[in-house]
Amino acid sequence: MESRLLPKHYLDAEVFKREQHLIFRRLWLFAAFRITLAAPNAFATRELGGLPVLLQNCDGEIRAFENVCPHRQMPLQKESFGHARMLCPYHGWVFDNFGKVKSIPHEEGLYAYSVEERAQLCLKQYSVQELGNLVFVNLDSDPLPFEEQFSLGLQEKLRVISGHFGAQAIHTVLPARYNWKLNYENVLDYNHVPYIHPKTFQPLLRKQVAPTVQELPTSASLEDLNGSTSEPGRSRHDLAALSFWSRSPIHVEQWPWHEFVDRYGEGDYYYNFFLYPNVNFISLGGLTFLLQQFHPIAPDVTEVRFTLCAAKETKRLPGLPAILWGHLKGEVAVLREDVGYLEALQAGLHPDAPRANHGRYESRLIDVAATYLRLMSEDVA
Ligand code: FES
Ligand SMILES: [Fe+2]
Repeated sequence: MESRLLPKHYLDAEVFKREQHLIFRRLWLFAAFRITLAAPNAFATRELGGLPVLLQNCDGEIRAFENVCPHRQMPLQKESFGHARMLCPYHGWVFDNFGKVKSIPHEEGLYAYSVEERAQLCLKQYSVQELGNLVFVNLDSDPLPFEEQFSLGLQEKLRVISGHFGAQAIHTVLPARYNWKLNYENVLDYNHVPYIHPKTFQPLLRKQVAPTVQELPTSASLEDLNGSTSEPGRSRHDLAALSFWSRSPIHVEQWPWHEFVDRYGEGDYYYNFFLYPNVNFISLGGLTFLLQQFHPIAPDVTEVRFTLCAAKETKRLPGLPAILWGHLKGEVAVLREDVGYLEALQAGLHPDAPRANHGRYESRLIDVAATYLRLMSEDVA
């Protein structure tokens, strides 16, 4: 089946701008692991949907604000992570836990705002949804209900699995020269693994060859497994049906530290969550948890954001940082294999390039494209 996406969806600056407004400023976006914001006054900064966002632990509650001071637009925080109260470095304005201006140095002498003007001075706040240890942000002033994007069954699964996160996480970003959709499509396409990752990822899988179409779960059974279509009124074209999880048996190499963590799940499985629009969250055997986010920068530039942690320690592991870095290095190496090919794919695209031709195993890509066009108000078929 010919893909409904055209080359312009991967190349065009206008399309990219529409995506920012119609997808990234409307849907719930992953923002951080809760564990990285656990301490009082912990903060993280992120660009989401083209906007600078500050996530802040406000007396135990995670809130999200635009990282722009209402005085003269200075970012409140420059670092990606840290601990600080909300104080603007430019002229010392201090904000309370709701983003309202609390104090302004020399206010009377220098500013003389009227009562009405003073009441307007606050940081723009965004909606936050915590799901276990995953924090999501919505940039819309009237956000869509969270369950319209992620089914209740999937939410429960994510709540339980992320409840196994340990207290330390590491984060890194990898710039890549391709459209974000290519990376999301790539993680849905398991059939590339034996060709692109023959020495890295493929040896972990217990099934050495890709399943044939006959062996694939039907979309009905997959959706039942995920509880998305089993809820009344759901259809496979719903937004929520695009986000799902699966698991496959893998070989997990045994390491001594595995004895000292509260592992998730039923044993040696590779858990794979796809969270539309741009997240792939995986767990190797319930021992390590890696979230990859394909963050759009430009039509042909994506920042791949990695956040990784291990399962909760039951006994202190002094070597944990080294363990996490070792795992992250391995995951980045696998992604670099994809990046080389996806960059070549992007570089070869041009406005008159032929469209992709999907086989039956790519039904998820077809569903994603259909919903994408609906969100972009281009669904004319
Ligand atoms: S710009 Fe923030 S206090 Fe002036
Ligand atoms: Fe890959």
